[in-house]
Amino acid sequence: MKKKLAILEGDGIGPEIMAEGLKVLNEIARKYGHEFEYCPAPFGANAYFSHGDPFPQEAKDACDEADAIVKGPVGLSVDKMESIPQDKRPEIGAILPLRARYRTFANYRPVYLPKELLAFSPLKPEILKDGLDILMIRELVGGIYFGEKIEGSTTGGSHAKDICAYTREEVAQIAHVAFREAMKVPGKLMTNVHKSNVLATSRLWNIVVEKVRQEYPEVVYKSILVDNAAFQLVVNPTQFNGVMLLENMQGDILTDQAGGIIGSLGLMPSACIGPEKGYVEPAHGSAPDIAGRNIANPYSMIGSVALMLEKCFGLEEESRAIWEAMRSLFRAGYRSHDLKTTSTAAEKILSTTAFGDMVVKLIREGA
Ligand code: IPM
Ligand code: MN
Repeated sequence: MKKKLAILEGDGIGPEIMAEGLKVLNEIARKYGHEFEYCPAPFGANAYFSHGDPFPQEAKDACDEADAIVKGPVGLSVDKMESIPQDKRPEIGAILPLRARYRTFANYRPVYLPKELLAFSPLKPEILKDGLDILMIRELVGGIYFGEKIEGSTTGGSHAKDICAYTREEVAQIAHVAFREAMKVPGKLMTNVHKSNVLATSRLWNIVVEKVRQEYPEVVYKSILVDNAAFQLVVNPTQFNGVMLLENMQGDILTDQAGGIIGSLGLMPSACIGPEKGYVEPAHGSAPDIAGRNIANPYSMIGSVALMLEKCFGLEEESRAIWEAMRSLFRAGYRSHDLKTTSTAAEKILSTTAFGDMVVKLIREGA
């Protein structure tokens, strides 16, 4: 397979973890006979300082021409971010426009913690039982993120409004993705998350999800209020093993919580898929405090590359090879800096580059 990829390495630890993601992708290309052409482009806070725009035209062109986009985290220190005008900050000025441009409505965020790695989690092993394998599916281009925003002032005070809006079609589209994914997982469970006791959008959401459900009679369907889901994720998370469907804002919050539950945001890869193309990115930020020190965990970036192979190009075997290599690295006792404990031996603690090298070696050996 021959594919063109736009590479947006981003800010902070972005370049370091991107290098490891591409190192692994190069090994996949070599081993399975694929060809990936990389087109790097500026994107994020650094791109604002160098080009006056966090999503400059040359990045748009590179993304338009690419078959898929590999994106690193964006954002710099609080001081530097405050010096950027609000509409040019990377969240509003780059990430949301990227999502809107390719209508990447389906955000896949796997929450995976196998039994042998339960110690990564701050939760007790008896709560985690045989481990977590939840695919959180977050709607990514609708809801309050993309609704009208109003900031105004009148004599007597200021006001602000964020409109949360969903159409029937938008909900149906993401519901189909969640039900289809649920058909592929053991137990075929799909848990629909919402806030229908308060929000009109959630009531529409549920009506549509219930309708789409009729087309997937084999799926075991559950429905839960988002506040209860947040609670249950901590006290009994294994009940969600399977697929969870979330709207944009609720999905943003619960996927970060999931990162905490499995022990690190460094374990949260993600894929954002639209009708024509997709992009992949770690679900975490750019960690400017540890940038340039070769200590960042590249798992989420490498995992995002694995998700791209599967979700964008249908390369399931290649994707599996990456997951298996990362899992056997951990199984052999190696740890990235974010996952080390006081009992981790110094020689088992991997730098960013050593982590990538080891994943490559394990793929090569067919671990
Ligand atoms: C995420 C991030 C983004 C979001 C921010 C950076 C705009 O937190 O991908 O989860 O809120 O969607
Ligand atoms: Mn987030």
